[in-house]
Amino acid sequence: MIETRNDAAADWQRATCYLNGEWTSLLDAKVSVLDRGFIFGDGVYEVISVDTVAGRGGSLRAPFRANEHFARLQRSLDAVRIDNPLRLEQWLDLTAEVIERHPWPRQLVYVQVTRGAAKRDHPFPAGTVPTVFVSTSPWPTIPTEQIEHGVAAVTHVDERWLHCDIKSTSLLGNVLMKQYAIDHGASETVMLRDGYLTEGSSTNISVIKGGVISTPPKTVQLLPGITVDGIAQIAAQRGVKVDVRPVAASELKTADEIWLSSSGREVLAIVSLDGAPVGAAANTGKPGPMYRKMYEWFQQAKQEDARAWHAQRRGSAIKPDVSEQADEQRTQAV
Ligand code: PDD
Repeated sequence: MIETRNDAAADWQRATCYLNGEWTSLLDAKVSVLDRGFIFGDGVYEVISVDTVAGRGGSLRAPFRANEHFARLQRSLDAVRIDNPLRLEQWLDLTAEVIERHPWPRQLVYVQVTRGAAKRDHPFPAGTVPTVFVSTSPWPTIPTEQIEHGVAAVTHVDERWLHCDIKSTSLLGNVLMKQYAIDHGASETVMLRDGYLTEGSSTNISVIKGGVISTPPKTVQLLPGITVDGIAQIAAQRGVKVDVRPVAASELKTADEIWLSSSGREVLAIVSLDGAPVGAAANTGKPGPMYRKMYEWFQQAKQEDARAWHAQRRGSAIKPDVSEQADEQRTQAV
């Protein structure tokens, strides 16, 4: 099968997903209209990126930091008091299986748990079984244009609630902020609360000044991102100073570089904020030197992480692929 990007888009319609113990076609999968995820946004989720990277014995297709994603899922479930319906091993098996069931070299795995279906009433219903949904979709290559020339962002007051650390499916505040960016010709909204940076509508934000990466601490005001943690770890390993501290809104105006990060966008440089160029981009119109290094380091980190995933999966029933086939798919998809 020659897989072009359009075919991948069409294939997506034929994807299969896991819903409450059954594998079923994505388009046929149905949940009750009484599901509290639908009625109240009473659920939590994860998005895990999957890429195919070069390994020693062939190419490796692997999710990035799956263990960390499921640790965060556990924290979200604990915070909203839903009992985790599966053990970590079962989550990892499901992740491996949903990836294996689809040919795409790059995928975004989506995991959602809601409190389940019950007569509409605000209090937690007794004895309801949580709804478990796992799906995947093709993850388009991040546009070279965005990697080489960066993206534009706008700022806005953070109007969301004070449990942004929970990866809740109640995302109306984030959806409105993303649309605000689009309506203003930008690709992200950077949110500010009481004069301090919180995060992007669907990304974490880091500010770079004098070779130091600063990013806000993990509080109820933002999601503890797996990608931004990865960036901090990668930087620290390379001897770059990372300062986790409150970042004043005014620092955005004097930053050398600003980065956004998320599972879907990895790390991208914001070169224009509210229409004004960021740092060195004023002269070059391009991301700064720290960004270019971090982009490369991040790609290397994905390779290390993929090797770790494959080593971890070696004893499992659902093994990930190490194959020329994955190589072939990668070539065909780009
Ligand atoms: N969003 N902050 C918010 C509000 C987010 O929604 C996300 C991710 C992040 C970055 O987290 P991570 O690095 O773990 O992906 C920060 C996902 C991708 C989404 O909702 O689609």
